[in-house]
Amino acid sequence: MSQRSQWKSSTGFILASAGSAIGLGALWKFPYMAGMFGGGAFLFMFLAFTILVGLPLLIMEFAVGQLGRTYTTELFGQLTGRKWLNGIAWIGNLAVFVLFSFYSVIGGWIIVYFGFVLAQLFHIVPTHLHDLQFQAIISQPLYVVTGQAIFIALTCGIVMRGMQQGLEKASKLMMPLLLVFLIIIVVKTLSLDGAMDGVRFLFQPRVSEINMESMLFALGQSFFALSLGTTGMMTYASYASTDMPIKTSALTILIMNIAIAILAGLAIFPALETFGYQAKEGPGLLFIILPLVFEKIQFGTLFYAIFLVLFLFAALTSSISLLELNVSNFTRNNNRKRPTMALIISLAVFIVGVPATLSFGPLSHIQFGAGSIFDNMDFVFSNILLPIGALASTLAIGYAMEKVRLKTGFGNDPLKLFAIWYIFIRYILPVVILLVFILQLV
Ligand code: TRP
Repeated sequence: MSQRSQWKSSTGFILASAGSAIGLGALWKFPYMAGMFGGGAFLFMFLAFTILVGLPLLIMEFAVGQLGRTYTTELFGQLTGRKWLNGIAWIGNLAVFVLFSFYSVIGGWIIVYFGFVLAQLFHIVPTHLHDLQFQAIISQPLYVVTGQAIFIALTCGIVMRGMQQGLEKASKLMMPLLLVFLIIIVVKTLSLDGAMDGVRFLFQPRVSEINMESMLFALGQSFFALSLGTTGMMTYASYASTDMPIKTSALTILIMNIAIAILAGLAIFPALETFGYQAKEGPGLLFIILPLVFEKIQFGTLFYAIFLVLFLFAALTSSISLLELNVSNFTRNNNRKRPTMALIISLAVFIVGVPATLSFGPLSHIQFGAGSIFDNMDFVFSNILLPIGALASTLAIGYAMEKVRLKTGFGNDPLKLFAIWYIFIRYILPVVILLVFILQLV
């Protein structure tokens, strides 16, 4: 049997997990969710949940993965001594399968936009960024399904070769560059008319906007943005050797993720007034506003093209973690099966994902449950599979905590942080997650 993969350095591990975390969640989903659920109130709840629920969970997933060093559908049984608890990992597998299917819709949009912007750069189509009409573009089956197929193929190609580690070098360049671009955009948007209204919208928490619904979406967003609740981060940590610093890694990722989400918000909201758009625009928000902002920047078309590449890179480093989770569980540490498994799973993802893409076009009339096909996939993932997975994991790990404590040496820290963390995992998180889950159903 060929060797199990392993990260070569802690930097590699941090970059990979940061890559998994930072993606469409922070850049695309956060601004549009904040826009729909009250701006500052949403940001406030998102921060609270990220720090109080997300951080302990992230540390838990890291600790357990690093401890077990195996695929997650074996890990739970190994840790708790009860084989049937491996079922928890299968919920995670199903969850990320669903997620990858609709994640690839947005990944496809990025690729289609990139195609158009390239065509503009080379004067093949009209040269104004404002000619990019979001609605018209995403309802064109040929474009968006092709974009989706390319996105899935890119992800599959990387996972097939087990070349996540090769991404390490690229990440070192792309992530800081993404940050620089976001800052350039923010500097521009802050200079626009009415920018301060947008800033206030994002940072001023209006208590009246806090309700059960917005709370639920904020919790879901903090899970989503940190890749939690599906055992995805356990898988990445299972490729980490025991000397890798998981607590500092978790904290680093948390801070980066929050910073990128806030920058993404600042890239959008201050620009709304100038361009006459509403915060409640929905999933198209980023795709509608950013081209307009770039149009006001010198060499904007070129810069927008570069930004789209960075954006695509961020989305890809997340989607490979989605595919990797299933590949790791279906190959069971046998790297020789990797290419075949990656290919089969990717094909299945594509088949399930195409209707989600078409639900913005020819299938938009199909409405049920949470809305369109896309909305329903997002709902099943974010509001059902994710909370159930997170709840089951915390319960199982809380139960096996003594083992985690002994093996990780977590109890020995002078600040007694372990005790606090333990109480969170064992008692507080399960109650919070269960409460939110039940309340949304009624
Ligand atoms: N965090 C990623 C993003 O924000 C999405 C993601 C990757 C994810 N892996 C996950 C979400 C596992 C939940 C679970 O784009």
